[in-house]
Amino acid sequence: MAFARLSALLVLALGAVQINAAITKRVTCASGHVTANAACCVPALFPVVDKLQSDLFDGAECGEEAHSALRISFHDAIGFSIHGGKGGGADGSILAFNSTELQFHANGGIDDIVAGQFPVFKEIGFLTAGDFLHLAAAVGTANCPGAPRLEFKFGRPPPKAAAPDLTVPEPTDTVTAILERFADAGFAPEEAIALLSSHTIAAADVVDVTIPGTPFDSTAGTFDTQVFLEVLLKGTAFPGNGSQAGEVLSPLAGEMRLQSDFRLSQDPRTACFWQAMVNDQERMMSQFKAAMAKLQVLGQDTRKLIDCSDVRNAEPVNTKHRGPRSKQACAGIDVPYLKDPSRQKGVVE
Ligand code: HEM
Repeated sequence: MAFARLSALLVLALGAVQINAAITKRVTCASGHVTANAACCVPALFPVVDKLQSDLFDGAECGEEAHSALRISFHDAIGFSIHGGKGGGADGSILAFNSTELQFHANGGIDDIVAGQFPVFKEIGFLTAGDFLHLAAAVGTANCPGAPRLEFKFGRPPPKAAAPDLTVPEPTDTVTAILERFADAGFAPEEAIALLSSHTIAAADVVDVTIPGTPFDSTAGTFDTQVFLEVLLKGTAFPGNGSQAGEVLSPLAGEMRLQSDFRLSQDPRTACFWQAMVNDQERMMSQFKAAMAKLQVLGQDTRKLIDCSDVRNAEPVNTKHRGPRSKQACAGIDVPYLKDPSRQKGVVE
């Protein structure tokens, strides 16, 4: 009897929680935009997003600036260690102290996006370097079809100093070195692979300087799982001037394969995580979003940050792949298809 009464009370209580969760207070800012938190109106974040889209991203394009805005957010945040003694994490130090951090070898090619972002950052004026840089990453990434909406937390203090060198993984690094660096920053191997979903909207300018803009998969303008598949295909040729440091044979003409991506796709510690992403758009989107949410507040006191995620662009559409089968490094998970069946060269059955 007592148990029945308790159960009834529990049902009532749970119902109340659900109703509360469903009621989210919305606020209309002076600009006319609607947000869940009035604090996101005050710093005029909506007009900032419009400015980023027009001045940085060529009118909401998923182009090189959007790709590089994501890359620089990683290079900024990863300068951090959960054990201390490194940089301030996701603090915008790579922008504010760019004359130091751009000297680091691993930041090759980042100079272009710093040159693009710095004047806009200065013109906006009221955002800290960290808030600016990680908002730009969230806005730019969401411009890419298939990409999840990344979180944006507002309120990072200005960076205190440049991050030290040798915090950003390089394509020539061993899997052990890469996983140790990610672990030092607080990421498990599965989260490292989730973050590498970013290479679905990526190209290299400096790995082989003779062929700038060479993409890592055949659909670099779409945030799909294609990179996870194409890295598993049999390599047949180099796209440019022979083999460069950090590059291995690629399966498709005009495509570059990073040695680090390939090794991670084959290593027993990460192969199954890599392979599980193939043709699983939901998995990739949710894991990438979760890992990025962690990355974009590394080193920050999250109790002092305000969730202003809804200042950004809308939720994306899904994409599915079909095509011939490919090589498997992880037994037990079937790798299904290559998106474009006309590009079958190099496929391993
Ligand atoms: C093992 C870790 C990683 C290595 C070794 C690596 C290496 C590289 C290299 C060598 C390039 C090409 C640079 C150039 O030649 O211009 C690149 C591009 C890129 N990377 Fe990574 N990366 C790693 C992880 C990440 C992560 C975690 C992210 C984001 C969360 C990321 C985002 C990007 C993007 C978006 C580009 C393309 C930039 C553009 O097209 O302008 N990378 N990466």
